[in-house]
Amino acid sequence: MLRELCKNGLEGLPHPDAMVNYGAKNAVEKLRGTSLVPRDVYTYYDFETFKFNFPKTLAKGVRVLKQNRGSTGEGIWRVETIGEIGNKKEIPLKTKVKCTEAKDNHVEEWELGEFIDFCVQYLDGENGMLLDMPFLERITEGEIRVFMLRDKTMNVVHKKPASGPDAFSATLFSGAKYRYESPDKWPDLINIVQGSIPLIREKLGNYDIPLIWTADFILDTDKDTYVLGEINASCVGFTTHLELSDDVADEVIRLMEADSVVNRNWMAFQN
Ligand SMILES: Nc1ncnc2c1ncn2[C@@H]1O[C@H](COP(=O)(O)OP(=O)(O)O)[C@@H](O)[C@H]1O
Ligand SMILES: [Mg+2]
Repeated sequence: MLRELCKNGLEGLPHPDAMVNYGAKNAVEKLRGTSLVPRDVYTYYDFETFKFNFPKTLAKGVRVLKQNRGSTGEGIWRVETIGEIGNKKEIPLKTKVKCTEAKDNHVEEWELGEFIDFCVQYLDGENGMLLDMPFLERITEGEIRVFMLRDKTMNVVHKKPASGPDAFSATLFSGAKYRYESPDKWPDLINIVQGSIPLIREKLGNYDIPLIWTADFILDTDKDTYVLGEINASCVGFTTHLELSDDVADEVIRLMEADSVVNRNWMAFQN
């Protein structure tokens, strides 16, 4: 319905396809080859490819599997082998794995093959997919959310997972602590985000940048670089929106005025 409305001249902020493309979990994989994400990230759209490849990536170390739908850590699994596995190119399907879900940091033990079968649900239906990326252990230091109003950084949220041996989730309901910080405290990261906007835009399909979006980062394991974990273009989960409402309104007006120069169909300009 939103697509139809946009087709008929209503301005979507953002356009629904922009929202889908920026917010999808495969955005990380589409940025592969850039310094924003690790090299070994994969997206699976069908069960056979997932079942074929995941035992190989898991042989390289602990992985995070992310379903595309949902938020707040549901269907986001850290997967690690249990016990000594030696130097294998591929983890046998009978191997025991420990799976921790970011929703609440709860742990389940599975046989790898059975866990892979369980994940088939995440591949079903429209936009079903699984992102497979390395687990970044410095998540314990926090996930750093850069909160954007189009191309402006509004604030930075430092989200620290709960303490506890299995906790890796920076989602609010799992007990993570959120601290809102001024962008001035994170100059390097802000430079990276601002400087990457044209690249992000191009790699994700050349849609207009969303009105409100976030880029979430985790520190890399052995170098002090920031790794993009996901982009959110809907349900960004901020609680201080009234503070931002003036800025949001200004941005919308600015966009409408800019658009009116080229688009005379706006209702507001017809009399
Ligand atoms: N590669 C990763 N390494 C370590 N922790 C991760 C990784 N990816 C995600 N997480 C953790 O899992 C949480 C949920 O994952 P995320 O990609 O943000 O999905 P969503 O917020 O849509 O549920 C993150 O907040 C973070 O704490
Ligand atoms: Mg998240």
